Amino acid sequence: MKIFIDTADVQEIREANDMGILDGVTTNPSLIAKSGRKFRDVIEEIVKIVDGPISAEVVSLDHEGMMKEAREYAKIHSNVVIKLPMTVEGLKALKICVSEKIKTNITLVFNANQALLVGKVGATFVSPFIGRLDDISQIGMDLIRQIRTIYNNYGIKTQILAASIRNPIHFLESALVGADVATVPMSVIKQLTQHPLTDLGIERFLKDWEKVPK
Ligand code: G3P
Repeated sequence: MKIFIDTADVQEIREANDMGILDGVTTNPSLIAKSGRKFRDVIEEIVKIVDGPISAEVVSLDHEGMMKEAREYAKIHSNVVIKLPMTVEGLKALKICVSEKIKTNITLVFNANQALLVGKVGATFVSPFIGRLDDISQIGMDLIRQIRTIYNNYGIKTQILAASIRNPIHFLESALVGADVATVPMSVIKQLTQHPLTDLGIERFLKDWEKVPK
């Protein structure tokens, strides 16, 4: 499973990239706002740090507006992936992006029918939001499972990008179910590295090392 970081904070992106585990980056308007920086500046900096897909989201609601943004952002770097919303207008923009060979990530996907449509039109990535479904008492992971089955049934090549991951269990289950990618915040990436027995083991080794004649 590929790992993307879900942030617009370039310091976090640098750190995850230095760990050698990073395959790409996803951003959204909320994450850009949190960075306190201009959208274009952030994307231009990220493409210099990570050599992999970098999702940049449009904010227009009509497909003409989405395409204007998409063409502009796609010019920044060949790794830029245009994030489009799962709407009728988003699908129209997706169709045009596919014909223009612009990479796409369809976001805010909350059921498998939406994902089937996205796959049919030919998106590069589909982003089902696990955590936000859990928030409203629906099992987010069931959605990933359903999409995996449907995409396998019909040989759909769109990559399933498990999004809205809030904890290590979401990450683990995404891998078990066969998501192609998981996008995770830095806090979860750090949690993935940790185990109390690792810390205890290091502590013991260091204590015993003190007894070794120097
Ligand atoms: O990038 C989209 C997604 O990962 C958002 O996550 O935690 O705001 O639901 P969250």
